[in-house]
Amino acid sequence: MKLRLATLADLDDLHDLEQKAFTHDRLDRRRWRHLLKEAHGQVWVAEDKTKLLGAAVLLLKKGTALARLYSLAVDPAARGRGLAKALMEKIEAAALGEGSVAIRLEVQQGNVPAIGLYERFGFKAIAPLFAYYEDGGDGLRMEKRLKGKLPRGSLKVPFYAQQTSFTCGPACLLMAMSALKKKHKPSISEELNLWRASTTIYMTSGHGGCSGEGLALAAHDQGLEVGLCVSDREVPFVEGVRNSEKKRIIAVVHEDFSKRLKKASIQRIHQRLELDGLKRHLECGGLALVLISTYQMHNEKAPHWVLVVAMDQRFVYLHDPDLDDGQSATDNIAMPVPLDSFGRMARLGRRQYSAALLLR
Ligand SMILES: CC(C)(COP(=O)(O)OP(=O)(O)OC[C@H]1O[C@@H](n2cnc3c(N)ncnc32)[C@H](O)[C@@H]1OP(=O)(O)O)[C@@H](O)C(=O)NCCC(=O)NCCS
Repeated sequence: MKLRLATLADLDDLHDLEQKAFTHDRLDRRRWRHLLKEAHGQVWVAEDKTKLLGAAVLLLKKGTALARLYSLAVDPAARGRGLAKALMEKIEAAALGEGSVAIRLEVQQGNVPAIGLYERFGFKAIAPLFAYYEDGGDGLRMEKRLKGKLPRGSLKVPFYAQQTSFTCGPACLLMAMSALKKKHKPSISEELNLWRASTTIYMTSGHGGCSGEGLALAAHDQGLEVGLCVSDREVPFVEGVRNSEKKRIIAVVHEDFSKRLKKASIQRIHQRLELDGLKRHLECGGLALVLISTYQMHNEKAPHWVLVVAMDQRFVYLHDPDLDDGQSATDNIAMPVPLDSFGRMARLGRRQYSAALLLR
């Protein structure tokens, strides 16, 4: 038996293996093509002289130190011979080689062979997944720490995925509200209402995102204690907008937000959020909404709000409400981002603009 990295020439065999190994939630050809051609990760296959017998897919979350075992399958005729064990060893070595500190995966409850394998490799259940699979079955989210420990409390902040491309800020705020306000349950109408309350009306293109000022007012209205740190006194986001009329409207909205912040006695300080200050805030049970550029994670320079849920000596842990195609919360909860990368992400554009809301 031989293990090697897969190529596009394996597409048909991988698709056949998928049909044999799974009865539902199968990856289609399009998905396999994406995994082989574009995805940030590695596809390993196990084969004997004539046939492909097993495959494992590791996905790496760009800009973070998080890896995911996305798929694992062995031909039914070749099971029980240690193929999955060999593939798992490759996957773990690959994740370590890429600097990952944790591997996560999802598995259906009742999948005794797979859960047995993962437990043997040191994976632990970190969350139940209710009615998660196509057949209505429940699942488990599991994680193996390769280095260090996940800071306590980082998985306790409930995750909520943004339902539109422009509501990252409101989705983060809803997560913070469900962690900080007892019995709060997020909904899409609430997400849209929070967006209406905090949008700058226009942004680089499409619907306007939310500014720190708008979100601070919305958080205050929702009964949260909030402090705002912004790096300068300029109007946010105007440099990405060409049309002068749109620039004028954004400035009007910003001025109105600023007046209302003053009236509500919401503290706004004009300085960058320092990592030490962020750490102290998190240690006291607070959470932080931070504006980042998505460049390091998605190769696209767009402003994006994330929720910082924990921090240790090496990483900031983020809940990112934006699920890419094929991703689930498994990829986006408590994502470890190295401190220096986070420092770079949290400065936008030529102005190096930064904004953060400290919530309690
Ligand atoms: C899960 C799967 C990949 C295991 O493949 P495999 O090549 O048969 O596994 P291995 O022979 O390498 O076994 C490795 C370990 O897994 C566990 N394991 C495998 N089959 C098992 C079974 N039937 N019952 C309990 N544990 C089992 C054992 O810990 C085993 O180690 P051991 O033999 O030293 O006790 C295979 O059953 C499969 O393809 N299943 C269908 C697809 C699937 O469910 N994938 C996982 C999705 S999350």
